[in-house]
Amino acid sequence: MEIIIQPSNHHIATIAAESISDALKKNPNLVLGLATGSTPIALYKILVQKYKNRELDFSRVTTFNLDEYIGIPCHHPQSYHTFMAKHFFDHVNIPIENQHIPQNATGDFESYCEKYEKKIKDSGGIDIQILGIGTDGHIAFNETGSSLSSRTRPVTLSESTLKANAIHFNSDKSAVPEMAITMGVGTIMEAKQCILLASGKSKSEAIVNAVEGPITASVPASVLQMHPNTFIIIDEDAASALKEIDYYKRCYENRLKLLST
Ligand code: F6R
Repeated sequence: MEIIIQPSNHHIATIAAESISDALKKNPNLVLGLATGSTPIALYKILVQKYKNRELDFSRVTTFNLDEYIGIPCHHPQSYHTFMAKHFFDHVNIPIENQHIPQNATGDFESYCEKYEKKIKDSGGIDIQILGIGTDGHIAFNETGSSLSSRTRPVTLSESTLKANAIHFNSDKSAVPEMAITMGVGTIMEAKQCILLASGKSKSEAIVNAVEGPITASVPASVLQMHPNTFIIIDEDAASALKEIDYYKRCYENRLKLLST
């Protein structure tokens, strides 16, 4: 786990965008795992700008989104399908057949979720998985208590997630769908690289629990401690509860020095 502490959300997004750009230039067939929510919006904005500047070509990229609500149609203004179209897919050249977001209109969830997992495997697996983190430590919609080896499945959202996401539903918690399809923790752990982004004081407790706490299903993000290639890119506010801030900063400075020699 590499902890990268930055002054602002813009710096976080810039570093994540650079990682994706470098990987895409090396491998035009990159498979990306994508997140929604407020945090990655700045990252998508930078990637879109790089595409517009002809710095990046997404024509052979495949994407898999982490999650989608159950119970609202894909064209709902707050669906993650709509989110991805608005912030990313409508502005870059990823072929539509390469874009995968869990579908919320299916009846047979078990076979649907198995097929979603199979598509990830058949694509060669996720090269870079972008993650946000919930204030309760969830990743994707794997809430407190999710098995650390869970796979793609339907889940019920926790009270704290319903509250946090109400902001997108006119602050009406009762309008937030109670269920979602999510990639599992085990599915996420199979990505070759994970990049978790977080900014703001409201994420500081989740970050300290995930990074310096015990590995526990109570904090699903803590399982990333077991992932061999994970970057936690956070701002000073999100980092503020960490005990080893100075050490993480020194590690990052030294890594940059090594990379530049
Ligand atoms: C969404 C997702 C969620 C969010 C998390 C943080 O696809 O996977 O786990 O990353 O709820 O959301 P924001 O960024 O809105 O604070």
